Amino acid sequence: METDDLIRLESITKIYGTGDAMVAALRDFSLTVASGESLAVMGPSGSGKSTLMNILGCLDTPSSGRYWFAGQDVSRLNETELAHVRNRRIGFVFQQFQLLSKLSAWRNVELPLLYRSVGDRRRLALQALEQVGLSDRINHRPGQLSGGQQQRVAIARALVTDPGLILADEPTGNLDTASSRDVLAVLRELNEQGRTIIIITHDPEVAPVAKRTVHVRDGQLVDQVAA
Ligand SMILES: Nc1ncnc2c1ncn2[C@@H]1O[C@H](COP(=O)(O)OP(=O)(O)O)[C@@H](O)[C@H]1O
Ligand SMILES: [Mg+2]
Repeated sequence: METDDLIRLESITKIYGTGDAMVAALRDFSLTVASGESLAVMGPSGSGKSTLMNILGCLDTPSSGRYWFAGQDVSRLNETELAHVRNRRIGFVFQQFQLLSKLSAWRNVELPLLYRSVGDRRRLALQALEQVGLSDRINHRPGQLSGGQQQRVAIARALVTDPGLILADEPTGNLDTASSRDVLAVLRELNEQGRTIIIITHDPEVAPVAKRTVHVRDGQLVDQVAA
């Protein structure tokens, strides 16, 4: 694939269940995301956003159609191969932060680097924490941090492997307005540094942080709006 596209979904369908219980969570879904883009995905509950996130994040594979990620067809990879793409090339940010409560901020951030040497891990973790403005909180545990700070630790953890893609699923869903603003400012800055960011959200306040918004309804892409 000779383009600058990081992501190309070609007519993806995702079916759950069989017979009467069959649900088409995504139908004939095509989407291209250029390297360095920022994209917001919006849609009501049940529209297929999490299914889309799981496929984009190589956590699941489509029932039919193709998914090209960085020029590689990842739609037919087995679990081990998917895990490899996921661990090396994609950073995840979740609504619930998903930090380990007994570990300090920097110990949480180094977790995706366990295959590296100890010295490297600490240096890279501190660097990622600096990027999210938390150099003065590296030894704090999650319970000693505000929600916004915890989410910034989670973003540092997503960043630490230097992934091409950051996928954020409702990243401000558990935050107050001020913390949301901080987290969105960090995501915007990462995008300005050239990282591709996809934010899945219900919140109309979040979407403007991305340069493009797509809407999902009943498993289909309904329109695309450039900001
Ligand atoms: N593992 C699953 N098994 C069966 N149905 C599922 C599963 N995951 C999602 N669905 C169904 O697929 C549709 C889309 O769900 P989902 O992707 O979670 O939407 P959203 O994240 O937008 O709320 C819904 O009808 C949901 O009930
Ligand atoms: Mg969902």
